[in-house]
Amino acid sequence: MEKLVITGKTPLKGEVTISGAKNAAVAILPATLLINGKCRIENLPNISDVRSYCDILKEIGAKIEWVSENEITIDTTKIDSNKIPIDTTRKFRASYYLLGALLGRCKSAQIGVPGGCNLGPRPIDQHIKSFEALGATVDVSNGNITAKTKKLKGTSIYMDIVSVGATINAMLAAVLADGITTIDNAAKEPHIVDVANFLNTMGADIRGAGTDIIKVRGVKELKGGSTYSVVPDQIEAGTFMIAAIASKGDVIIKNCITKHLESIIAKIEEVGGNVDANGDHLRVWYTKRTHKANIKTLPYPGFPTDLQAQMGVLLSISEGTSYINESIWESRFQYTQELIKMGAKITVQGKSAVFEGINELVAAPVYASDLRAGAALIIAGIIAKGKTEIYNLNHIDRGYENIEEKFRKLGAKIERVEE
Ligand code: EPZ
Repeated sequence: MEKLVITGKTPLKGEVTISGAKNAAVAILPATLLINGKCRIENLPNISDVRSYCDILKEIGAKIEWVSENEITIDTTKIDSNKIPIDTTRKFRASYYLLGALLGRCKSAQIGVPGGCNLGPRPIDQHIKSFEALGATVDVSNGNITAKTKKLKGTSIYMDIVSVGATINAMLAAVLADGITTIDNAAKEPHIVDVANFLNTMGADIRGAGTDIIKVRGVKELKGGSTYSVVPDQIEAGTFMIAAIASKGDVIIKNCITKHLESIIAKIEEVGGNVDANGDHLRVWYTKRTHKANIKTLPYPGFPTDLQAQMGVLLSISEGTSYINESIWESRFQYTQELIKMGAKITVQGKSAVFEGINELVAAPVYASDLRAGAALIIAGIIAKGKTEIYNLNHIDRGYENIEEKFRKLGAKIERVEE
């Protein structure tokens, strides 16, 4: 078993370059199934979720070549199956995009129920509702979801809940449908815009991505032949921003879109950190002890749930009493149990947590319960007194590219060792 061993109390200093966004990449890869031809994808994060997705696409006939560490060419001309077994789909959540993409391409698809981080119940009713509105019949039984239709027809879809996955899945299924599809109450995350930009680059006609209402005018086919570069990862950038302040450091974060980071910049400034944003990079630095803040996680442009745990680490050592309300996922406070082992004073009640700021965390063996909890524990290890050991690294490797190398370059004393 692998673990990370971190010797703490090192202020992070220097520059870090942000990779392509995981949550855009895991939607763009299945979106290639809608293309009749070959395309090139750049700035692809080399993380285990992306490699797993490439393996799935290869299994059903896609030809994928890694041109470099972060670049592939992918040819989906000869897809020979529209069935993906549960053994494959349960490995990660984003496998649900295979349903929208294969339904769009083949007019019928069967996938095993998706897996992913354990964040509490993760329903997909809005995905199913969207496919049905477009004219498909959907059946969920024996661990499989089957969707089929004779013809997908443009329609109006009103999302009852703002959902990243359902918005993207509805776009995927609508791209080759007959007529115009309107997605109302759509999610607005930067990766929604990125998937729409990718599809448009390949010949789709999608307007309004990034607003509440997305209009997809169905086209006959998507042609390959183009190159697309994945948007920088907003959550990875936010993780390094929080780590810079929590460690009392001074870090320049390169290859990010600072516009996507507004809610995070605002919170870091609110607790007393300093941020200088300059278009595609920013500097984050510490001058005085941070203090309390209240946070409610919300869909974009609100404060992202995917940075809640990292911010929880910062608040656990900030002066005063802070409150976090997690409004998206039911079980996203599991990391607090690990921080408590490190001395943090946190009380969780349902979807809310109270953080009584202490002076310092003290090292302990801790377990990552999910991807972002893992990133939060790395930050905790970097700022804690002593040697922290972090287990369950598979969660972290799913979504962060070369994470320990990036932190090491900033001065963190972090090693991956085999136990
Ligand atoms: C995406 O999950 C991300 N995953 C998550 O990132 C992220 O936490 C989440 O969006 C919110 O930003 C990927 O992009 C692969 P949702 P998704 O549908 O699409 C409810 C990470 O760490 N809901 O926007 O599955 C749902 O229960 C991960 O990178 C329904 O009720 O999330 C939740 O409360 C973890 N019915 C809320 O909506 C549905 O049909 C938002 O979920 C769909 C969702």
